[in-house]
Amino acid sequence: MPAGGFSAVHKNGGTEFEAKITPIVVISCVMAATGGLMFGYDVGVSGGVTSMPDFLKKFFPVVYRKTQLKEESDSNYCKYDNQGLQLFTSSLYLAGLTATFFASYTTRKLGRKLTMLIAGVFFIIGTVLNTTAENLMMLIVGRISLGCGVGFANQAVPLFLSEIAPTRIRGGLNILFQLNVTIGILFANLVNYFTAKIEGGWGWRLSLGLAGIPAGLLTLGALMVVDTPNSLIERGRMEEGKAVLKKIRGTDNVEAEFLELVEASRVAREIKHPFRNLLKRRNRPQLIIAVALQIFQQFTGINAIMFYAPVLFNTLGFKSSASLYSAVITGAVNVASTVISIYSVDKVGRRMLLLEAGVQMFISQLMIAIVLGIKVNDHSDNLTKSFATLVVVMVCTFVSSFAWSWGPLGWLIPSETFPLETRSAGQSVTVCVNLLFTFVIAQAFLSMLCHLKFGIFLFFSSWVLIMSVFVLFLLPETKNVPIEEMTEQVWKRHWFWKRFVEEDEIEGQKRSVKKHSNGFEPSLEL
Ligand code: BGC
Repeated sequence: MPAGGFSAVHKNGGTEFEAKITPIVVISCVMAATGGLMFGYDVGVSGGVTSMPDFLKKFFPVVYRKTQLKEESDSNYCKYDNQGLQLFTSSLYLAGLTATFFASYTTRKLGRKLTMLIAGVFFIIGTVLNTTAENLMMLIVGRISLGCGVGFANQAVPLFLSEIAPTRIRGGLNILFQLNVTIGILFANLVNYFTAKIEGGWGWRLSLGLAGIPAGLLTLGALMVVDTPNSLIERGRMEEGKAVLKKIRGTDNVEAEFLELVEASRVAREIKHPFRNLLKRRNRPQLIIAVALQIFQQFTGINAIMFYAPVLFNTLGFKSSASLYSAVITGAVNVASTVISIYSVDKVGRRMLLLEAGVQMFISQLMIAIVLGIKVNDHSDNLTKSFATLVVVMVCTFVSSFAWSWGPLGWLIPSETFPLETRSAGQSVTVCVNLLFTFVIAQAFLSMLCHLKFGIFLFFSSWVLIMSVFVLFLLPETKNVPIEEMTEQVWKRHWFWKRFVEEDEIEGQKRSVKKHSNGFEPSLEL
């Protein structure tokens, strides 16, 4: 930390400004916690609810009858194959990915704080509709409202966090968001475990209604916090932005950082079409990597487990509460392994975590496929206790490796590789592609399980192989590289991606020489 009049020091060639970890930054972490909690709760709650007989009886009587009467024609793998049931889970993601584009606009024009507030209001409306639902329509409209909440929250919260965090703890704070996603999932699994025991048809209402806790917390939090200095300055509220910067950094010595924010917002304001700018050749490596990471994250098959673990364990012959119990174990493994990631990501690096996890995920999925292939056929599940335990252990091995790799890094890497002027549009695309593929998996998994049977796990393991090869050759290490130096230190040195950055630079130079010879002033190429 600099003494006296200096407000910035140079570390690893990057700039680090004076900043204390102030109460307001801590409150902001709690904020992020509730945004992530809500997302996680929504992910976790649907699996448990859709395996509750009372819920199925009320909204999906056809599925209910299938689970009760084991008709000859119904394969074990197909009991839950129903488009309506899948729509209940997946409508949330479809709404979320549409909302992201509106959220990208509101985060810029109205600020991060108001966007989080909008998310909170959507969450509350969705929770009320779901809890009081009397028909399928109300249920789906409620899920859509929750989805809009997810779209707005996942855009605003990570941006809010990275802007409010002191540089040196930004990576840790980013994974904290994912940690809270996993806590939300675990909370939902626990709630489902208890509410599944409630007789009389209101267990599922309680499960859906308890989403009110994270929803209320997010709304309250959004009302309490200040907006980020970046957002205030971007909207021309200079003095307010400076005052907030002093408050969050815990020092009056903020002039250098303030000037940098003013300059960054000037550059950002010059960009009239943020999404078109994102498509420029020099941004291609980050864009391809961000999109690929989201697709790969979902094609690990994680949400097949997260959404449908209770249904899956039921399919495998576990009884209803035993399967929820297994889902709780999976949820706890998810949280614990994310903590491991927080500690190791800046030490062993991103690539190491992803490659190790690739091996672990591949082996566990292969073993699950083999056990199911041998032991569970269409009409009899003769999974003995020891084989059933083996499946649960393999599911946990799979979840743990996902939780210290693709889970947090799918969000962290895009957020640290986009240059400032494309960061917000990049975040939008990241969230949108993530939710799109979450939707695809949510909508297709039960049908795929029905048709591919145990082969579904071979399908996902093949994807794990492909993504690991991608990481091996195409994903550069970004550990300990200051964000604004990614181009110099990462992209220009990468055997493949350097051609995009360099060719674009040469083109830029040619254009500016041409302008010179035409008597024009050279200007910033955007
Ligand atoms: C993914 C979610 C997933 C969760 C599981 C997140 O990173 O984006 O789709 O449900 O991890 O922990």
